[in-house]
Amino acid sequence: MGSGQPVVQRSLTMDEVWDLYRQDLEEIESHIRRNLNSEAPLINEMAAHILDGGGKRIRPLLLSLCSRLTDYVPKNDLVLGSLIEFIHTATLLHDDVLDEAALRRGRPTARRIWGNRASILAGDYLYSRAMHHIAAFKNHEVNDAMAMACRMLAEGEILQLCANRQPLLPESEYLRIVEYKTGALLAAGCKVGGLMGGVSPLQAEELHQFGVNLGIAFQLADDWLDYTANEKNLGKTLGQDLMQGMVTLPLIHVLPCLPDENRRILVAKIERNAIKEDDLLQLTEHMHQHGSLRYTRARSREYIDAALSNLTTFEDSTAKRALLVVADYMVNRDC
Ligand code: IPE
Ligand code: IPE
Ligand code: MG
Ligand code: MG
Repeated sequence: MGSGQPVVQRSLTMDEVWDLYRQDLEEIESHIRRNLNSEAPLINEMAAHILDGGGKRIRPLLLSLCSRLTDYVPKNDLVLGSLIEFIHTATLLHDDVLDEAALRRGRPTARRIWGNRASILAGDYLYSRAMHHIAAFKNHEVNDAMAMACRMLAEGEILQLCANRQPLLPESEYLRIVEYKTGALLAAGCKVGGLMGGVSPLQAEELHQFGVNLGIAFQLADDWLDYTANEKNLGKTLGQDLMQGMVTLPLIHVLPCLPDENRRILVAKIERNAIKEDDLLQLTEHMHQHGSLRYTRARSREYIDAALSNLTTFEDSTAKRALLVVADYMVNRDC
């Protein structure tokens, strides 16, 4: 596609979206490879390990689609899609250290192969590599959006760390963490895409809010998948959140539904980091019984609806239709 916009007048499937925008994604992928050129070979090896593991590339796709909401045809600036994937990859390297994760994208995590220290440094490199390249665009708004996302991401992860093993975390605080750790980067990607396409300041703000809402919905999906997905499809270890004392919406919802004594015991176990496989199974069963996974899905649907309302200011186009499909996919995925 690279030149020209596809014109499709009907609703699309997710496979058609991947197909229609394949050329943009391939170009982004080639930027990813080209920019993995650190003088420290270990960094290239680690980054290639995680980047070659696949990943949905949802952030670059959103950036490309948002840039195409106008008549704009992305040029060299598609490199920004690769830079947002670098930032995302940096967060995964760091996040797997924080969460002591063993599997990522179906492969052993970088921390398991090269250790925590190297993972943190490789993540730092990818962050700074991306920010350095972004600065070269000399576009204040793009710089500001990306830098703000990095700041909020770090704040989100640390807020989450501080909330670790606090099972009585209020839902509002959980949602704030999710907005920061996941919504902020998606928001920046959507806004930057729009800025590339020359949208109005008001539309840029709508795209930012679209990304925030989408990001929250996406993380809610990630959080129920952690309890219910097929581990092979997900490429991550199931039940990690509870085992690591990470309090997410299914848990926040189910606890008040449990008989007092049962709840007291489980709360104490989470606080003491004494959760065992049996507790995980029992809690997952309760989540099914008490509709906690259904509740999390319903909340995530509310955020998707809010995200879609942020797009009303844009005229109908293939890119807009594609965004509607992607939004749906982000909460109806199994990986
Ligand atoms: C994982 O993000 C971390 C979250 C914010 C939920 P993705 O689900 O986009 O991970 P990949 O890139 O597809 O592996
Ligand atoms: C997303 O949270 C973390 C980032 C924003 C990097 P999770 O800790 O739930 O992500 P996964 O499940 O490990 O991918
Ligand atoms: Mg994690
Ligand atoms: Mg998760």
